[in-house]
Amino acid sequence: MQNRITQLFNIKYPIIQAGMIWNSGWRLASAASNAGALGLIGAGSMYPDVLKEHIQKCKQATDNPFGVNVPMLYPNIQEIMDIIVEEGVKIVFTSAGNPKTWTGWLQEKGITVVHVVSSVKFALKAQEAGVDAIVAEGFEAGGHNGRDETTTLTLIPMVKEQLQIPLIAAGGVATGKAMLATMVLGADAVQVGSRFVASEESSAHQAFKQVVVDVKEGDTQLTLKELAPVRLVKNKFFNEIQDLYKTSPTKEQLIELLGRARAKRGMFEGDLDDGELEIGQIAGLIHDIKPAAQIVKDMMLEFEEAKKSVLNF
Ligand SMILES: Cc1cc2nc3c(=O)[nH]c(=O)nc-3n(C[C@H](O)[C@H](O)[C@H](O)COP(=O)(O)O)c2cc1C
Repeated sequence: MQNRITQLFNIKYPIIQAGMIWNSGWRLASAASNAGALGLIGAGSMYPDVLKEHIQKCKQATDNPFGVNVPMLYPNIQEIMDIIVEEGVKIVFTSAGNPKTWTGWLQEKGITVVHVVSSVKFALKAQEAGVDAIVAEGFEAGGHNGRDETTTLTLIPMVKEQLQIPLIAAGGVATGKAMLATMVLGADAVQVGSRFVASEESSAHQAFKQVVVDVKEGDTQLTLKELAPVRLVKNKFFNEIQDLYKTSPTKEQLIELLGRARAKRGMFEGDLDDGELEIGQIAGLIHDIKPAAQIVKDMMLEFEEAKKSVLNF
């Protein structure tokens, strides 16, 4: 199928495999791109030299387009952007920062820029900054999120009402049916995170992938709104945060509890008690670990089936 997003990225299907710290390295990104989606390397958890290696390996593993996700809250951004340009990456998804900072600089170098937002206000700011497309991410999504708790079902049509540039829906999309629903609401494509965490090629620790499979409805919650709001599995670390909240902590106390490298410990090293386990609400609907290509294939099959079944309403 062809639409504004498949044409913008030159991909077969309107599916973006989300950039995700500790999960989406070159293996996942190249597998998703080889399957006809757009694979994204998550630069947020990579030192510049590690990112360089992932980009080079990704180029060897696929001839199809792929991109890099850069959360702008991390240090070394100039170095990261320089590597992206040097290595000839053609697509960048920025998040967690001001889209004005890098959009023009990247576009001058022939790079397509997409920015991730969680509200109508920031979608319009990103459009004003000149990005080529936006990802609008609902409250149910895995990872860091907005403070306003706007769900995908409400966010997408509200953004669509005001936005002219292509729109990618994220948050709670793990099936072809959900993909169709967001596209009916106005999205041109979907960005899928949690479903790809439970893929064979994700670099998540096997124990974390199993948690994703085991998680049920109600097992995740958005927390740490005073720092950077993040949706976490309710494990021991999550409960420690809630206990601290009961004492009306200062921001500094929250930062101290969070400490360093919690996300790496949880998702990459498999420390299920003391690590930070980021996943979306839709994990309750994810029951298996599959190859990325199978995820793309199943989503597209279900999408086509769902389109046909709608005609019988
Ligand atoms: C484990 C994990 C890590 C994530 N890391 C990032 C990141 O580094 N940068 C970013 O822009 N979004 C990140 N996200 C958000 C995803 O890119 C995506 O928008 C989100 O997962 C979509 O919602 P879903 O999980 O319901 O599919 C992360 C999500 C997860 C689950």
